[in-house]
Amino acid sequence: MPKITVALDGYSSCGKSTTAKLVARQLHYAYIDTGAMYRAVTLYFCQNHISHTNPREVQKALDEIHISFRRHPESGSNDTFLNGLNVEDEIRKMYVSDRVSEVSTVAEVRHAMVAQQQRMGKSKGIVMDGRDIGTVVFPQAELKIFMTSDVMVRAHRRQEELLAKGELVGIEEVIENIRKRDYIDTNRTESPLRQAEDAILIDNTLMTVDEQVDLVVRLADERIGQAIRRREEA
Ligand code: DC
Repeated sequence: MPKITVALDGYSSCGKSTTAKLVARQLHYAYIDTGAMYRAVTLYFCQNHISHTNPREVQKALDEIHISFRRHPESGSNDTFLNGLNVEDEIRKMYVSDRVSEVSTVAEVRHAMVAQQQRMGKSKGIVMDGRDIGTVVFPQAELKIFMTSDVMVRAHRRQEELLAKGELVGIEEVIENIRKRDYIDTNRTESPLRQAEDAILIDNTLMTVDEQVDLVVRLADERIGQAIRRREEA
């Protein structure tokens, strides 16, 4: 069975990771949350007082940063490790969310992350979510999805996620963070967030998680079918 690459991009907190994870499980593909990688870099910058505007400090830090993903033995989730330490909970906290978009504007940071993402996905059979997967990381991906949803819906989902992890954040602060990240992600010079020309737009404001997952799996099955036919014709 030929394997494809599924690239899932879109705005902050619109359910990309939840969808990508479940799609990967149904397809028996690997799943990579690239936002977690930028969050891990940001955490390192916070912990080591690295200024993202100082190129020498940034390069030295990048040489010292090793990011990996490991399956949690009990929950089965794919946890993010920074230099051997599980940082899955820490990188989701508000102080990291507040700084991550600025760190993600730095060209050296992006080049290092993109190179690692391309290595991780080179054998296909992967679902990757982020902001530049269909445009920069895997422009040849067989299936590209661009997700969006209403900002209030996104803010409430994000607030619930934070609460489930014990962080109580007011809705205004959550909305402000989402709007700020969307603005920086869309307007940065280096690989800004935009919908690839051949990406399929999914607005999930009124969709359940199951509906989104079913839709993406159906589209992936179609693309796998096309890959089979291409192989037969060759
Ligand atoms: O998906 P997320 O909200 O966890 O991502 C956190 C930030 O990382 C997001 O605001 C922008 C940045 N990011 C990026 O620039 N490129 C990606 N491929 C993924 C995330």
